[in-house]
Amino acid sequence: MVDDSGLSGFYRLSREERVKKLKEATGLGDEDLGPLVNPGEVDMSILDHMIENVVGTMTLPLGIATNFLINGKDYLIPMALEEPSVVAAASNAARMARPHGGFTATDTGPNMIAQIQVVDVPSPEEAKSKIMDTKDALIEFANEQDPILVRFGGGAKDLRVRIFDSKVGVMLVTELIVDTRDAMGANAVNTMAEALAPRIESITGGRVILRILSNLAEFRLIKAKATFDKEMLGGDEVVNDIVAAWAFAEADPYRCATHNKGIMNGIDAVVIATGNDFRAIEAGAHSYAAMNGYSSLTKYEKTPEGHLLGSIEIPMAVGLVGGATKIHPAARASVKILGVKTATELGQVIASVGLAQNLAALRALASEGIQKGHMALHARNVAATAGARGDQVDIIAEKLVKEKNIKVERAQELLADLQK
Ligand code: MEV
Repeated sequence: MVDDSGLSGFYRLSREERVKKLKEATGLGDEDLGPLVNPGEVDMSILDHMIENVVGTMTLPLGIATNFLINGKDYLIPMALEEPSVVAAASNAARMARPHGGFTATDTGPNMIAQIQVVDVPSPEEAKSKIMDTKDALIEFANEQDPILVRFGGGAKDLRVRIFDSKVGVMLVTELIVDTRDAMGANAVNTMAEALAPRIESITGGRVILRILSNLAEFRLIKAKATFDKEMLGGDEVVNDIVAAWAFAEADPYRCATHNKGIMNGIDAVVIATGNDFRAIEAGAHSYAAMNGYSSLTKYEKTPEGHLLGSIEIPMAVGLVGGATKIHPAARASVKILGVKTATELGQVIASVGLAQNLAALRALASEGIQKGHMALHARNVAATAGARGDQVDIIAEKLVKEKNIKVERAQELLADLQK
């Protein structure tokens, strides 16, 4: 846990200075952060066993988003992605929520769905009743597959049956709802679904084909909200225009795809940094957004005082135990930086980042447009690439933007002049 996630002036520091400041703020040392801040330290023999036919690695820059206050706790947020502006935008949006208490996040619990597909059922409605009659015994049998999960307070909690028509006729799908605690849960629920399948076949008289989790994790939701300060946003008109920008996404799937993509910029970056399955999160987010016609994962309204109240509701199937999160040394370091204790807490952080990211994009789009900020950051990257360090970066970046000539060669000339 960090005392203050503000880290004033963090972006102005050199990378080495940032690492030093991060260590001071988190109390973490080389032992914990080494593989993240010096990627060469990552033990290849660990990565070699994570997937097949390994020959190397694909590294991404990992930045720290600042200013996040979530449920009264300060967080520094590791974000791994290739796109400029995202980390700065999230930090900036989080700063605008601080005067109003930051983000408040709640959850439904870490409940995943396992699906068992049954075809050729002679009498689906009767089969459904029979399954529901034996529901308790089926849940008990599912839980026998994972006594450790049950010991930790998780396990199968509920069961439902859905019957629907399909291209190959009527289908009966049995769904087991499993509390997977701090695991993402794919292994746990798939094992239970496979174990239950023969019983479901004998009850229904049908034939089971698929036994697999659903990424539409509608019982593993996070809700987060924050009030963003109207003065910091740029005044009354900006607040109104952000609400109008959100309404555009609500009304139009073409805009909504980009709107939700902006949310996922922040979400995926933290999901990747912590070694979680970003494809699962993407699938969950977009399928949830599409449940009643594709719509926004966020909502905005003006408060009576004229501030902007934003909220997000999103499935968040992330874990802290098992998978790459526990194996990949850099992902372990990210989890330590975050200081999260449960998968649900991690989900609350990630959803808050998604909301901040969306607000930042809408604010920029509804006021000066996003290119200005992009160009300023791009110019800083170019200045750094040309060899500028510390204060030189901002001085040169500013000149590049003013001259509308954001090129490394020009940055090198300006740097040479500065050093004279
Ligand atoms: C770019 O990666 C994301 C945005 O397009 C999101 C949005 O339009 O809301 C800026």
